[in-house]
Formats: sequence, C-alpha cells, structure tokens
Amino acid sequence: MCSQVIDPLLDINKEDIDVLSQTQPEHGSLSGFELYYPKVSRNAEIRNVYALIKKIAKSNASVLIQGETGTGKELIAGAIQAQSLRADKPYVAVNCAALHEQLLESELFGHERGAFTGAVQRHSGKFEQADGGTLFLDEIGDMHPSTQAKILRVLQEQTFTRVGGNKPIQVDVRIIAATNKDLWEEMESNRFRADLYYRLNVVSIHLPPLRERQEDIPLLVEYFRRKFSTEVKKEVGPFTKDALNVLLRHSWPGNIRELRNIIDRAVLIVSDGQPINVGALAMSGKDYFAAGGRERRSGEREGTSFRTLNLQELEKEAIIAALRRTKWVQKEAAELLGISPRALNYKISQHNITHDGWRKHS
Ligand SMILES: Nc1ncnc2c1ncn2[C@@H]1O[C@H](COP(=O)(O)OP(=O)(O)OP(=O)(O)O)[C@@H](O)[C@H]1O
Ligand SMILES: [Mg+2]
Repeated sequence: MCSQVIDPLLDINKEDIDVLSQTQPEHGSLSGFELYYPKVSRNAEIRNVYALIKKIAKSNASVLIQGETGTGKELIAGAIQAQSLRADKPYVAVNCAALHEQLLESELFGHERGAFTGAVQRHSGKFEQADGGTLFLDEIGDMHPSTQAKILRVLQEQTFTRVGGNKPIQVDVRIIAATNKDLWEEMESNRFRADLYYRLNVVSIHLPPLRERQEDIPLLVEYFRRKFSTEVKKEVGPFTKDALNVLLRHSWPGNIRELRNIIDRAVLIVSDGQPINVGALAMSGKDYFAAGGRERRSGEREGTSFRTLNLQELEKEAIIAALRRTKWVQKEAAELLGISPRALNYKISQHNITHDGWRKHS
C-alpha cells in the first residue's frame, strides 16, 4: 500500500485558534480550514509534539509514536513523512498486528519463488517498496520476537534477505513505528526486544488521550461538525449547550476516532438548519451515563443512581455488563459500549476481566 500524504500540520497562529473557536464557518474557506486544523491545539503536550515533528521530520531518525487507540498516531506518522525530505518518495504502511509471524515476514521482506507452499512467484516486500522513502510499522508492539530480531538487523545493516532467499538486498528506509501498547512495559516483561526498542525510540512521541486534552474538545467537535456538514452539503448545528457539556464530560475511550464518529453520525441524523442536541449524540455505555446522559433525560439528581463514582470502577462494571448482555462476544460488546473492539480488548486486559469461554479459543 503506497500513498502520498498531504501535510495536515500546516502552521497556524494564535489568532487563527481564537477565530476558529469563536466564529461560525464560512463554507468557502473550508478546504484551508481542514488542512490546517489538526495543528490547532490548546494543549501544551500536543503543541510540543507539533514543534518536535517540525524539528525532526527532515532527519532520517527513527520515530516511535505511542498513544492509546484513536489518538492520531497514523496522522502524525503521515505528517512526519509529508514534512520530510522523503515526501515525494514512497510511504509504505504495514499493520504488524494484522498478520501472523510468517506472513508478516514475507510481507515485510518479500519472498523468493518456491519459498513456501503457495509462493508461486517472487514477491518484493514492503522494505523494498519503501526504498528511498519511509516505512510505517503500525502496531509494532504486537510484532513476534523473531520478526523483531529481523527488523533490528535491517535497521543496523540496512540489508535483508527475502524469505527463502540468500542474496542480501540493500535498502535506504526511514522507519516510523507506532503502538498503543506501553512499549517500555513490553520491553521490561521481555515481550519486546530492548535493542530494538532503543533503536526505534531515537525520537519518541507520546500522544495524550483526549480526556487529558479536554481543552481541545470544543475545537475538535467544531472542526468535525464543519467538515461533515460540508461533506453532506447540510448546514447542521451549532451544538446546544447541553450537547457540548456531554461531549466535554465524556471520557473518550476511543479518543479522536470516537469523537469523529459521534459527530459524523450526529450531522447525518440532524435535519438541515437544526442544532445538534444531546439526543443526536449516540453516546452509549458507561460513558454516556458518566457524562450525565441518563440523568439529563430522566431528570434524576446528579450521581444518585451510581454505587460508585469512581470512573475506573464504573468502566469495569459497564464492560462486564455489556459482555454479559452480548454473551461475552467482544465485538458486539464493543459496539454496545461505543468503542472499537481493539479498545475494548485493551481495557479487558487492563481491568483483568476474564471469561472461561475465551480461554477455550486461545
Ligand atoms: N488532530 C486531529 N485532527 C483531526 N482528526 C484527527 C486528529 N487526530 C486524529 N484524528 C482522526 O481520528 C481518527 C483516528 O486517528 P488515527 O488513525 O491516526 O489514530 P491511531 O492512533 O493510529 O489509532 P489506532 O491505535 O486505533 O490505530 C482518524 O480518523 C483521524 O483522522
Ligand atoms: Mg493507527
């Protein structure tokens, strides 16, 4: 998969941010708006990330991007490529979690004809395709240790051999890696090679979860409202005060992806010319309740229906309730909770939730 990236991180000054947060959009200026928006942030950590990207994009240093699901790791990887000296060279992305060990190795390094059953012809891998450009190794925390060792070799020597081959192939590839796992922890528990960790982590970028950059929520919801309104050629919004409050109080386990989906849906279901109210926000599971959704509807006094107000405990309870309701089918439970199956999976391990039925399959 080769693709050219448009730089989503153009410069923007403080006045632009103020204008953005205070004014209604003018449709004519939307394309520029959309291009510069992702750079808009009131959060110091995010601003540091943007400043850092600018400094390191033009070097060939490996970059490791860490952050929860949906925080924008892929977007940042693309932005680095777009600002690099390799911007017009190939940008090749590989999801290391999607393929099992052998397939991933053949995907990365290619294979010779007859290397294994089904290898009817020679296949060039992602490293070769990315020669001169950038290879984005997504979900690197899920990579098998034997593949990790091979990647380390390429990083050290810039050479590799195709699966089933013995001719060393030389490449010039810049690596950007991303993961939503805590790679330090993975390394400490020997699931991730320390030498590879240090090799990748020359430049380290951490993207904070959305709940830690609450000040950006009004900017983001406004951005997506304008973007999706334009896409469907409707004038939807603005948000009612209640709706904005629910959005502000939500804990966003799926981060910007979740927010984007909620606004996308709201813009679709709200009629032209109407504001976006709480009902249009498909907030589900514990976050909807934690954000005050049910109380708002039934007029209950704040917090009276909860055994605890500890968000972590509420989260665990909501996950278990959703899993029970869906007979422990994680995909369906994730839908009910309004988060991605991967985010649910992560939370399940975080909360140490287990179920006998799962173990049988693993
Ligand atoms: N700053 C931003 N401005 C606008 N949209 C954003 C921003 N950051 C992320 N997004 C959007 O949020 C969604 C998730 O982003 P992205 O795919 O980069 O996340 P990720 O960290 O790679 O997630 P995962 O770990 O699940 O792969 C995308 O639709 C992306 O366009
Ligand atoms: Mg991603």
